[in-house]
Amino acid sequence: MSERFLKPALRGFAPYVPGRQPPDAEGWIKLNTNEAPWPPSPRVLDAIRRAVGEDLRLYPHPLAASAREAVARLHGLTPDQVALGNGADDLIAMCFRAFAPKGGQVAYLEPSYPLFGPLCRMYEVEPSVHALGPAWEMPDSFAADPAPLKFLVNPNSPTASWVDRETVREVVRRSSGVVVLDEAYVDFAPAACIDLLAEGWGNLVVLRTFSKAYALAGMRIGYAAAPAGLISALDLVKDSYNVDRLAIAAAVAAVEDRDYHDRLVAYVVQERAWLGDRLTEIGFGVGPSATNFVFARPPQDRDAAWLVDELSRRRILVRHFGQGPAAGWVRITVGTREQHLRLLEALEEVMAGDG
Ligand SMILES: Cc1ncc(COP(=O)(O)O)c(C=O)c1O
Repeated sequence: MSERFLKPALRGFAPYVPGRQPPDAEGWIKLNTNEAPWPPSPRVLDAIRRAVGEDLRLYPHPLAASAREAVARLHGLTPDQVALGNGADDLIAMCFRAFAPKGGQVAYLEPSYPLFGPLCRMYEVEPSVHALGPAWEMPDSFAADPAPLKFLVNPNSPTASWVDRETVREVVRRSSGVVVLDEAYVDFAPAACIDLLAEGWGNLVVLRTFSKAYALAGMRIGYAAAPAGLISALDLVKDSYNVDRLAIAAAVAAVEDRDYHDRLVAYVVQERAWLGDRLTEIGFGVGPSATNFVFARPPQDRDAAWLVDELSRRRILVRHFGQGPAAGWVRITVGTREQHLRLLEALEEVMAGDG
C-alpha cells in the first residue's frame, strides 16, 4: 500500500484483524468469532422480512427511536438513556470520538479486545495499557488510572474471565473519566452490571451487542446504556443514520423474544461446560468461562499456532492471538454438540499425528 496520502499518525499502522469469515457455502465449522450456535429467532427473521419493502427507499429514523424504546423497556431505563450502534464496535468508536481528547490517554487492560489499540492510533490518542495478572486478575493501577476514557470488558475476551460487580463499581468510583463497561458477553455470565446505572454514576457507559446472545452478528446492532448526558454526547458524534431499517426491526423483535434468547443462552452455558470438560480430558488447560467461548491452553509441547493451523486444514476455525500473554492459548467459541464432536475428533487426530 502506498502511504503517500495516509495521515502521518497512520504510517506503519497495523489495523485490527477480525477472525476469518470464509464463504458461507463452504461448510466450515466456525468457532473463531464468538457467533451464536443457533440461527436468529424465527420471530426476528419474520420482523426483518416484514421490514423488507418499498420503505427501504427512506432513511431510517436517525435515533433508531423504536429500538431505543424497546431496549429501555428491557432494562427499566428511559429512551434518552439508550443509544443504538452499527454493532458495539460502532459505539466503541463513538466513545473515542466523544470522550478521548486528541493526545490524551485511553486506558484498557491486556489481553482484552484487540480493537482498542488500533482505535488509539486512528483517533490519535495514547494507549494506557494495564497488564492482567497471571490468572487474568485486574491490576490495581487500572482503577487508579486518571485517563479521560477507560474500557473494561467484562466478561473479558479472550480470557473468558470475569470480575464481580463490587470490582466494577470500584473502577467506576475511582475513575475521574468515563468508564465504558463492555458487556458484550454478559448474557453468559453469572451476573450483569448494567443496573449499576440505577446508582446514578455519571461516568458509566454500558455496552451490549446483539451479535452473541441474540444470534445477530450479521445484522450489526449494539447499544449503549448510560446517563442521558453521556448518551447526548454519543449522539453528537454518531453517523447520521448509523443503524439501518432492517437492523432496527431486528433489534425490537429480538429484545421482545426473551424466550428464544434465554433458551439460546442456556444451551451455550451447558455446551460450554461439556466442551470444557472434554478438552480438559484430552490435556488442555481450560480456565473458567463466563462467556460463549472457552480459552484453553493446549497440552504441553503443543504449539497453539500449529494446532490452529492444523484445525484450519480440516476446515475448523478457532482463534489464536499471536502476540502477548494470550499467545500460547486458543479461544474456541461454543458451538453445537455436533460441531464439538467434530472439533474433538480433529484435535485427537492432529495430536496423535504429531506424537
Ligand atoms: C469485547 C467485545 N466487544 C465488542 C464486540 C463487537 O460487537 P459487535 O459485533 O456488536 O460490533 C466484540 C466482538 O466480538 C467483543 O468481543
